[in-house]
Amino acid sequence: VRLVVVGALGRMGGAAIRAVQITEGVELVGALVRKGSPYVGCDASSAAQCDTSSGLLLSDEPEPLFSQADAVIDFTSPTSSADFAQLSAKAAIVHVIGTTAITGVEAEIIAEASQHIPIVKSNNMSLGANLVAALVRQTAAILDDSFDVEILEMHHRNKKDAPSGTALALGQAVARGRGASSINRTVHGEETPGPRKRGDVGFATMRGGTVIGEHHVLFAGEAEVIEIAHKVSDRMVFALGAVIAAKWAFGKPAGLYSMGDVLGIL
Ligand SMILES: NC(=O)c1ccc[n+]([C@@H]2O[C@H](COP(=O)([O-])OP(=O)(O)OC[C@H]3O[C@@H](n4cnc5c(N)ncnc54)[C@H](OP(=O)(O)O)[C@@H]3O)[C@@H](O)[C@H]2O)c1
Repeated sequence: VRLVVVGALGRMGGAAIRAVQITEGVELVGALVRKGSPYVGCDASSAAQCDTSSGLLLSDEPEPLFSQADAVIDFTSPTSSADFAQLSAKAAIVHVIGTTAITGVEAEIIAEASQHIPIVKSNNMSLGANLVAALVRQTAAILDDSFDVEILEMHHRNKKDAPSGTALALGQAVARGRGASSINRTVHGEETPGPRKRGDVGFATMRGGTVIGEHHVLFAGEAEVIEIAHKVSDRMVFALGAVIAAKWAFGKPAGLYSMGDVLGIL
């Protein structure tokens, strides 16, 4: 499967280039950077801090890259991912989207594009986090709302969105476990004083250092607390998940798929 990595100079873009290079059955045919980037023409591997040269140069022209690819791996920004979804649909190739905090018009553009091509979109591409979401859903289905659910997450100081996409997906897993379509979100703090509302899911966000991603889901009952946690120590788990998703989606009918579909954890 011939792959293009967009946002090649980003933290996840670099990890995705490394992941392609160590995965069998895939080939890196393009690495895209911002229009006018001073890195255009540099070796894609040096941007990804790989030891070996890929022999592939960074480009800022998406359309020629997409025309020779089978799939695009995209960890960029909501607006860019919406643009790349339209370009992927035009080129009739798979689009794997790891970008988080996609809502509103961008989500609509991606949903529209998925009527023409297979798109895999997930706030967390790792096997572990998807397994944790399934465990959280099962736990929420077994326990009633006398167990207060609190979701705590920590990420590096440069993360743009909060709570993380994974924390929100874990909240959604609680809702599904309880047979609801959504949950009431509480962000504890000065603006929400007083006793905790029964049935709400509380979110707490921490930002600092270089922490790649840590999520804890606590089910706090009368005299016991159940904790399900996931900690990532290397971005490669997300990048390898995205490459697996691209291989899985190649040849699939058009549609909007999740990592749960890819991993068979629904
Ligand atoms: N789903 C998952 O498993 C998962 C895991 C980790 C992170 N994420 C998400 O992935 C996204 C990226 O995270 P990150 O930590 O890699 O951020 P980052 O280091 O800021 O990387 C994003 C890169 O994309 C580039 N970019 C954006 N729009 C572009 C465009 N139109 N053309 C070319 N390049 C473009 C940015 O360039 P500029 O610097 O010029 O803007 C930047 O180099 C975030 O939404 C994050 O939450 C998802």
